[in-house]
Amino acid sequence: MCGIVGAVAQRNVVPILLEGLQRLEYRGYDSAGLVVVRDGKLERVRSIGRVADLTEKCANTQGHIGIAHTRWATHGVPSERNAHPHISKNHIAVVHNGIIENYEALRTRLTAEGYEFTSDTDTEVIAHLIHSHYARGNSLLAATQASLAELVGAYAIGVIAADNPDQLICARRGSPLLLGVGIEEHFIASDVSALLPVTRKVVYLEEGDVVEVGRHSYQIFDATGKRVDRAVQISELSNESVQLGQYRHYMQKEIHEQPQALADTLESVCNSQSLVPGIFGAEAAATFADIDSILILACGTSYHAGLVARFWLEEIAGIPCNVEIASEYRYRTSVPNSKALVVVISQSGETADTLAALNHAKALGHSHTLAICNAPESALVRLCKLRMLTRAGPEIGVASTKAFTTQLAALFLLTLVFAKQRGRLTAQQEQHHLHELRHLPGAVQKVLELEPHIAKLAKQFAGKHHALFLGRGLHYPIALEGALKLKEISYIHAEAYPAGELKHGPLALVDKDMPVISVAPNDALLEKLKSNLQEVRARGGELYVFADANTHIRAADGIHIMQMPEHAGYLSPILHTIPLQLLAYYVALQKGTDVDKPRNLAKSVTVE
Ligand code: M6R
Repeated sequence: MCGIVGAVAQRNVVPILLEGLQRLEYRGYDSAGLVVVRDGKLERVRSIGRVADLTEKCANTQGHIGIAHTRWATHGVPSERNAHPHISKNHIAVVHNGIIENYEALRTRLTAEGYEFTSDTDTEVIAHLIHSHYARGNSLLAATQASLAELVGAYAIGVIAADNPDQLICARRGSPLLLGVGIEEHFIASDVSALLPVTRKVVYLEEGDVVEVGRHSYQIFDATGKRVDRAVQISELSNESVQLGQYRHYMQKEIHEQPQALADTLESVCNSQSLVPGIFGAEAAATFADIDSILILACGTSYHAGLVARFWLEEIAGIPCNVEIASEYRYRTSVPNSKALVVVISQSGETADTLAALNHAKALGHSHTLAICNAPESALVRLCKLRMLTRAGPEIGVASTKAFTTQLAALFLLTLVFAKQRGRLTAQQEQHHLHELRHLPGAVQKVLELEPHIAKLAKQFAGKHHALFLGRGLHYPIALEGALKLKEISYIHAEAYPAGELKHGPLALVDKDMPVISVAPNDALLEKLKSNLQEVRARGGELYVFADANTHIRAADGIHIMQMPEHAGYLSPILHTIPLQLLAYYVALQKGTDVDKPRNLAKSVTVE
């Protein structure tokens, strides 16, 4: 939700902080700020808007220690006074990602103690709290630890003090934070991509860790206050993978990375001759043998991946499957089944609703848990017994693209493993599916060749205010995903319906101003879909059909056909997603919106 960077070095850290913020901007982008220690004083610069605005304001700022932040507003409107860092009595500065749930009680108490609040944020209580402990003679580390003990909620924080130019304190619980190890310099960041220009050596902090970071050394203390060692890892992330390269936007780059992302995600499977449960973790074989149903929990695009998986799991593996929006599941009374496998799907692994739903499921007695996630070190992965990592690489555009298609690939593997275990997959069928999976990256590459045609088509959407997306069966979730992509980045109101549902109400909306986009795979529901499309055309609706080869849907007045290169059978939802991603992207370009950072949104939603 928010991005944190910090550094302590012999050199001026301001350029490092600004570059880091730029790379973390996807996490939040309504305001940004940094603070350094200079001549025994805190020097803070904040700016509403983007990191580029902050950079302009920092021309004369320098220091050897500093912390910085890019914000996605939760408590308090986006404004300069609410931007981080927050400072207590000109002495303690704090940046924070997360939510402090008991901030109101703390604010009342600290106000009574004489602290003056200058923002509407929950973060400011942390600065004052640390100051109150520091002022009583505690070290910065001890003051931070004592303050953290009083906080309820989630946090990743960075702390510096005006009279302590060589020491930065950081801590995490519920929000991500890592330490970067340099030569005679150390860094902190929400995400390794922020530190790639300065180091690849990172320490992933664990829940409850507090770290005293100096220029020459660092010390990590666990949640109980015990000094601990954590492994230094070499990040495999390449600098190129987080740079735009030849593309205009990250979303476009990430759409084009899908063949590689799928190949990477499927690598181990496609190189072997048969499917084994072990791809989901060492305990998968034993766990799956005990499973009688599946419960999928996720949000947004990841939820749509779950909806596709339900079709696969029930039809191919014959295993009952429920899919629930994580934020709803956690607040309803459900009937737990200890033999259900709880599958949580998330690109970031830090979505608060999904994490809370997982914890809720565990509290209800669900012990069989599997994470399908793109962030190996995330809280979600750590909390689950089993895991399958999608290897999409960093996804920076707020609109999820390659994460979605790789989630689908992982869920298809899950389906096949269950089908095999339940005796519903012959050796011949297994080989057929493996063959199709090996072919998938190439098939996606061919669909990407539709890009120039879709770019042309998108021009017809620029003046529209609404759009309807239709799909049936396995492709209804793809229609939902197409609608989400369009509304998210082009701000056109879009809804998705199973095509057969149209006549039960939404058909009333159809007229010449309502474009209707339909996913038309060459499957068992094709003839039914064609009838539904006729119903639209008969009411004057303009149809845009993404049709498989051999569907025999002909272009005509008011019917625009985009021919897909091939039909991919069960994997068709993956192929049909691509043109809808491209359509949303090119419509957004037409409308001139901020494609990678659409208004009001952030990449990972770490608050409720
Ligand atoms: O990181 P997650 O997959 O858990 O995120 C879930 C949703 O917030 C996310 O998919 C969101 O809907 C995307 N911005 C959609 O493009």
